[in-house]
Amino acid sequence: MKISILGAGYVGLVTATCLAHHGHVVTCCDVDASKVQRLRVGQIPFYEKDLSEMVCAAVQNRTLSFFDTLDEAMCADTEAVFLAVPTPQSSDGHADLHFVETAVDQLIGHFQKHPMTQACVVVTKSTVSVGTTARLATKIADAGLSRIFMANNPEFLREGTAVSDFMNPDRIVVGADSDVVFTKMMAIYQPFLDRGVPLISVGYAASELIKYASNTFLATKVAFINEMAVLSESVGATVQDIAKGMGLDPRIGAAFLSAGPGYGGSCFPKDVSALGAIVGDNGLSLPLVGAVSVSNEAHKAWVFQKIMRVLSGVSGKRIAVLGLAFKANTDDIRDSVAISIALQLVVAGADVTVFDPEAMSNAQSVLGDSVRYAATVYDAVTEAQGCLVLTEWPLFCDLDLRRVYHLMADPLVIDMRCLWDRQTMSDLGFSYFPLGTAV
Ligand code: UDX
Repeated sequence: MKISILGAGYVGLVTATCLAHHGHVVTCCDVDASKVQRLRVGQIPFYEKDLSEMVCAAVQNRTLSFFDTLDEAMCADTEAVFLAVPTPQSSDGHADLHFVETAVDQLIGHFQKHPMTQACVVVTKSTVSVGTTARLATKIADAGLSRIFMANNPEFLREGTAVSDFMNPDRIVVGADSDVVFTKMMAIYQPFLDRGVPLISVGYAASELIKYASNTFLATKVAFINEMAVLSESVGATVQDIAKGMGLDPRIGAAFLSAGPGYGGSCFPKDVSALGAIVGDNGLSLPLVGAVSVSNEAHKAWVFQKIMRVLSGVSGKRIAVLGLAFKANTDDIRDSVAISIALQLVVAGADVTVFDPEAMSNAQSVLGDSVRYAATVYDAVTEAQGCLVLTEWPLFCDLDLRRVYHLMADPLVIDMRCLWDRQTMSDLGFSYFPLGTAV
């Protein structure tokens, strides 16, 4: 099938590339002409495992091409257009739908000038507020476009594993209101259905809400285990034991029970906030939904207070911060707790040195010259009077800890990702303070 993707960001580029990999002929359109030029020569604007190779292969076998205008990207027999444009959080907590609305207006103009030869489905792939797809369907019908239909098809891609998540989905969710659309969407995903991937066909609102509900529930799991980490420190337990004991219950599951400094990234904070706004729009009071972000903010504050308590203040102290990305295997620092903590340490008078294997250049755009940027972990910990682990990079698990011990002026480590074994750290002589264990 001929498919167009509007937006060449994390979601759009991964979707375009993976659909091309499955035999569709895909065009990917982005308003950023320079980004389009770079994509045409295989330059990917962000790191995602396997994406670069797949883009180059698809461009080479002409199943994927890039454009910066809608008219070039679309043709009369395009059968589906995925909207993968940004839906950032607006100041009142709602999803900002400006880019989605603009894209649909442009599509309506295009369809009116260039009538389609067959049914074409416009798919909201970006995370949109509940009710958006239905409203856009009315807008398209009011424009007299009888061959144009709407669908919602939320993505469940995690940064760092986005290609793998698209290629191996747990489920495909489709929101629609007619068999024409369901048939078209099943045709798009037929290779996945042939592999036994379940496709859930629901109404527009259910499909949009599944996305928010899924992310908010995952965020709830993270916020919950973080609260159990705080409690564990008070009652003399270890949070990893709690997570293990809980996770072996298949009704709970072990995933997303790793305690940390608080969730971040470009999705959890935005989606949890947007769901809260949707609840408010409907005049409801649903305490659990609102409590998730309150819990996460409280945890982030508790984490910084723990750091200050363990270090007995940081003014004039040399502190190493290991990890700046909001999680491992990405260079993304959006809503990263690590960045927030580094900035708070600077304000508190610490002499901060930072290291991250992927996110250093992104971090520099925020941290500027307020911190030092180490070339290696060992540079970062040299002469440090305290070391904070804030992102669970595998690289940190393979460190020569004996070397770290000898490089530090004061071998004190606060591990907010519980990467190391307590006994090992104690035997090496560290003052080791893992999250979720009373010491
Ligand atoms: C998330 C959802 O997982 C994905 O399905 C959705 O499409 C987009 O949002 P992402 O934001 O890439 O993906 O990151 P994710 O891996 O979910 O982690 C989110 C945050 O939770 C990160 O800050 C991470 O460090 C934290 N986290 C996650 C934990 O602290 N502990 C865990 O056990 C899991």
